[in-house]
Amino acid sequence: MFERPEAGLAVVLASLDFGDPDHAEGLNELKLLASSASLRVVGVVEGKRAKPDAALFAGLGKADEIGALARLTGARLVIFNHELSPVQERNLERRLQCRVLDRTALILDIFAQRARSNEGKLQVELAQLRHYATRLVRGWTHLERQKGGIGLRGGPGETQLELDRRIIAQRIRTIESRLEKHARGRAVQRRGRQRGRVLSVSLVGYTNAGKSTLFNRLTHAGAYAADQLFATLDTTSRRLWVPQAHRQVVISDTVGFITHLPHALVAAFHATLEESVHADLLLHVVDAASTNRSRQMLEVEKVLREIGAEHVPRIQVMNKIDLTATEPQLARDEYGKIDAIWLSARTGAGIDLLREALGEIANQPVHDREFGASPNTDAETHATD
Ligand code: GTP
Repeated sequence: MFERPEAGLAVVLASLDFGDPDHAEGLNELKLLASSASLRVVGVVEGKRAKPDAALFAGLGKADEIGALARLTGARLVIFNHELSPVQERNLERRLQCRVLDRTALILDIFAQRARSNEGKLQVELAQLRHYATRLVRGWTHLERQKGGIGLRGGPGETQLELDRRIIAQRIRTIESRLEKHARGRAVQRRGRQRGRVLSVSLVGYTNAGKSTLFNRLTHAGAYAADQLFATLDTTSRRLWVPQAHRQVVISDTVGFITHLPHALVAAFHATLEESVHADLLLHVVDAASTNRSRQMLEVEKVLREIGAEHVPRIQVMNKIDLTATEPQLARDEYGKIDAIWLSARTGAGIDLLREALGEIANQPVHDREFGASPNTDAETHATD
């Protein structure tokens, strides 16, 4: 439904510094996001401002500098490292004479490319509809006021607009009701797992921390890993046999977190993230080799609070130790509870420590695991498989 910027498209990035100490890092992340979306960065414009300009976000001089660089490099798209209002976006497009997207739209686009499951696709489409619907409506109202809304960008007149709004509203309702069905189905499955005393583990972490690599390593490696999909679950949930506990664990990969994750996206992915809220254990995967790892960890904590998962027991998985020359190890807190594990999902070093930890936790009586989310409070520990 949404037109995507084609792969390899030349883009100019624009990033303004409003005194944020993380500005340089935010810009590096934007470059990474652009290449994740298969775009080719041909230029970057930076600037400093006290606060965003209401009409153009950047000042007039800066906007013209961006426009000049876009023309010089042949870029047909400019991406701002910020959230732009629909009006700012529209004004910029007119001033720069090329397409303008903001950071949110770029992230939405990446999610759209990556969504694999039916539910994930619906969630992204919903977030996109909400994002673009306000743009369409407010953007056009703004233009209509000025120029009567005829003939601009080859766009629709009032009647067409009304129709578009109705179609969008209808599509949003359809998606919402489909997503509700998915959520109900998942709740039923979750209850089944809780009855079956299956330990459910969710991988969470900042984007690029190595969650998927770890997920694959855990679910494919070893003769005991049952590589079996739950037909009605998202494809990113798999059963894992933990020999140490003689039982199965359900492990789920989740969406990567990111600084300034657009709120619409957090809302749209609430259902998927809900897996984390109801998990028995969270494995917070951290890129231990990243110079920004502390900030990334804080960012993940923030999202976990936002979705109400802060009470779920968690282990920090310090990944990529092959890059930091650290030995695999396991740390416990003062009560003997497993706190953190250092490993490398890529080389497999330390994975056995994680498997043992999962075995130990799966073997613990339910109340000892501090399972706030589980209704089963009896101390059933037998292997049921
Ligand atoms: P998102 O899907 O963006 O949330 O990322 P993710 O957390 O699932 O990360 P992913 O598993 O895709 O890994 C990101 C990059 O880190 C890939 O290039 C991996 O090959 C690399 N990587 C993952 N684990 C390790 C590791 O232990 N060591 C090294 N050197 N690289 C790793």
